[in-house]
Amino acid sequence: MAATSAAGAAILDTLGDFTSRDNWDKFFALRGTGDSFEWYAEWEHLQAPLLSLLQCCGAEVAGAGQGPEILVPGCGSSALSEQLYDAGFCRITNVDFSRVVVADMLRRHARSRPEMRWRVMDMTDMQFADGSFDAIIDKGGLDALMEPEAGTKLGMKYLNEAKRVLKSGGKFACLTLAESHVLALLLSEFRFGWDMSIQAIANESSKKTAFQTFMVVMVKGKMGVIHTIQSLLDQSAKYCNIKQANAVVHALEKENSIRESYSSGVDVLLSLRDLQLGAVGDLKVIIPGRRRMFILGEQGNSLYCYKAVLFDARKQTETFVYHCGIFIVPKVCHILSICSFNFFLYITVICIDRIPMIISLICFGLQEISIQENAL
Ligand SMILES: C[S@@+](CC[C@H](N)C(=O)[O-])C[C@H]1O[C@@H](n2cnc3c(N)ncnc32)[C@H](O)[C@@H]1O
Repeated sequence: MAATSAAGAAILDTLGDFTSRDNWDKFFALRGTGDSFEWYAEWEHLQAPLLSLLQCCGAEVAGAGQGPEILVPGCGSSALSEQLYDAGFCRITNVDFSRVVVADMLRRHARSRPEMRWRVMDMTDMQFADGSFDAIIDKGGLDALMEPEAGTKLGMKYLNEAKRVLKSGGKFACLTLAESHVLALLLSEFRFGWDMSIQAIANESSKKTAFQTFMVVMVKGKMGVIHTIQSLLDQSAKYCNIKQANAVVHALEKENSIRESYSSGVDVLLSLRDLQLGAVGDLKVIIPGRRRMFILGEQGNSLYCYKAVLFDARKQTETFVYHCGIFIVPKVCHILSICSFNFFLYITVICIDRIPMIISLICFGLQEISIQENAL
């Protein structure tokens, strides 16, 4: 994480763990009330890319005569929301889990910007209905959840929530320092059904900070469809941190080759997570005859891995007695080097209707596998 002012950087030491609500309350209490604080990227550089993003967003998804409904998660005391409001985007909902900062922001803006809303809320567990927003503008919110020691759990929880509250066709702009673990999460979580692009936010050479900010934009599209990422990173541009920019370019190339292999028509072996992310479309909707091979278990994390096939039954008119069937076929496996066992099982799960499926496989030493309702 990085802050754009020296004063901020000094108080930053109080934070320690960026995922702790108490630490953020202390941080904002120490900073005092009444002024704004920018973690990174200033309005002068954000104005052009954000306004063009939101203008298209308004035309495509918001009702006529109204601006887009915008969510700003982890708003902090940034001036970004007031600047967007003053540029004509009034339907903004700001969320932060720090009571201290939300109370201060409400006090500062309630009168002068009456349509803007401020909510004390955990962005990993948001109290909004599905499809409530046309756009999400996150500046440093995801980055704050991605403490390297804490793993990806909070980040994944938040991204699931962001996907849920966004309308179809809605846009999620993530302003991030794109550290490798953060970018890796964004690239994999938005692999299926999202149109993605990435650009660098300009920096004035006189005000160079040590970190380059990137804007990653994800547009919610049709499940199952896979697009390569559009890179708007200019080879000739002067980045304030060339090492950081090169790492992003490299990660994008790698991800695009993964995406190309998925969309090449070759039967790529999917993971359970791929299925959950919509690699073969919405699993809650039956597609008669759909059939896909996947791996249960993770290389390096699971004791065992199992090759499985998921397929949907063809349409039938009579009432179903069973919701699904499982066929376990033991096979000797010589070829799968990623598995640490010499005995390989094919598991076939046939989904007959969409009554939530809870299957526990407790045979053949499969104790660790449990396909829960939320897993498929
Ligand atoms: C790095 S700061 C970014 C603040 C602001 N967006 C900016 O650009 O200056 C992260 C913000 O996210 C908030 N935050 C961290 N974890 C959160 C969570 N789980 N739910 C809601 N807000 C959270 C913090 O209180 C803090 O205001």
